[in-house]
Amino acid sequence: MMVLTARRLVTELGAWRAGGPAYSALADRVRLLALDGRIPLGTRLPAERELASELGVSRTTVAAAYARLREAGYLRSTRGSGSVVTIPGRRSPVEDIEARTATTLDFSKAALPAAPQVGEASVRAAQALPAYLGGTGYDPLGLPRLRQALAERYTAKGVPTEPENIMVTLGAQHAISLITKTFLSRADTALVEAPSYPHAYDALRLRARKLVTVTVDPRRGWDDHGLAQTFREARPALAYVMPDFHNPTGAVMPAPQRQLLMDLARRHDSLVVADETTADLHIDGVAGAPLATYGPALLVGSMGKTVWGGLRIGWIRAEQDKIQRLEQSRYAQDLGTPILEQLIALDLLGQYEEILRYRTVQLREGRDHAEELLRSHFPQWDVPHVGGGLCTWVNIGEPVSSQLALAAREGGLPIGAGPRFGLGGAFERFLRFPLSYPAEETSLAVEILAEAWHRVEPLRRVDADFTPALV
Ligand SMILES: Cc1ncc(COP(=O)(O)O)c(C=O)c1O
Repeated sequence: MMVLTARRLVTELGAWRAGGPAYSALADRVRLLALDGRIPLGTRLPAERELASELGVSRTTVAAAYARLREAGYLRSTRGSGSVVTIPGRRSPVEDIEARTATTLDFSKAALPAAPQVGEASVRAAQALPAYLGGTGYDPLGLPRLRQALAERYTAKGVPTEPENIMVTLGAQHAISLITKTFLSRADTALVEAPSYPHAYDALRLRARKLVTVTVDPRRGWDDHGLAQTFREARPALAYVMPDFHNPTGAVMPAPQRQLLMDLARRHDSLVVADETTADLHIDGVAGAPLATYGPALLVGSMGKTVWGGLRIGWIRAEQDKIQRLEQSRYAQDLGTPILEQLIALDLLGQYEEILRYRTVQLREGRDHAEELLRSHFPQWDVPHVGGGLCTWVNIGEPVSSQLALAAREGGLPIGAGPRFGLGGAFERFLRFPLSYPAEETSLAVEILAEAWHRVEPLRRVDADFTPALV
């Protein structure tokens, strides 16, 4: 069973106090953390006394918050195993599947349904499969033809690549966790962007001693000074970045900054990992040249966002000796990528440009509609214009993102609160809004959000009235 220490929970809670009684605000924040996955189901929460002392509140407050969570079905308390996080009304797996297909809105994910080409590509791949059935089927590096096709794409983008520089993985998430497992030791510090893709934080946290951050702003992008200072002071062994259509801000790193990043990494002997999962999702913006054209960066790619998340095909492009090290460490975790999925991916790579053009049209519609609606419903919010990617990072002006996300969820719209994309409770003034949904769903989502914004109004006023003592 996972156990959450009081200190760690306090970090995750961030600025949890809102208007109203403290116990109720505390219970609401724990509920949100459970719902959006920041506290995994089955985690044991700290004892009331410990949490009270870490938070600087009375034990009665924590006891009342836990009691409220228990009543609402978010905590199960049993003698000997403490208070364990649950989600009320968890369905059986069969009901879960039915409910999932019936669910209409889920804006906590920024992803598209499968590209229409996937069905026919799967049929052709099944027809090609018999040619492979005489082999063992264990494939830790990937089918030579798929590695060749991926290598050719990199070479065309200005990164000369041979099939030996490619490992096919089970999606980009697998690639990130394999890279961290292979190249990070437990004493190492890793540099990450803030905000960033939360499951990359999860993978890095499992390995690194410490994560240090560099801020990415949707309008100003990365900050040269921050990059240089973080490299100098923290000496990270690994830097994980998303230079193209960064998730969640949509920012694209300019060429001189790519050069600066690779120079800093070389000077401080740091391994740069560029996650290019969203790099091909341009709308009217232009991605930069891959970081590997500036220095020896590891590149992570995926068909998860361009083709379909259900395909589970990703890859790593690296120098050959690094691919060999990755192969050695992969065996402890898995023995390769399924052949049928690789054949589907190979078929789809033959029509990749057409798929990307289709994605551009879908995302342009999604972006234009979302930006227009958000700006007209929330004139006080700052809705940046993004040139690509799957979401926009909206500044809602007041530090109530968690409460807003909770109110939206109660209205039927799960959506990622800002702190889900940061570390230690940062980004309460931000909300990630996906651009990947059809117009009717986006319109409905904005209506629910407007209603939720109205419901958190009293909290906003409390916050505005609050003047800190000038000491
Ligand atoms: C930036 C980024 N990297 C990696 C992933 C994981 O991709 P995959 O589905 O290929 O594992 C995602 C998915 O949301 C993502 O947004």
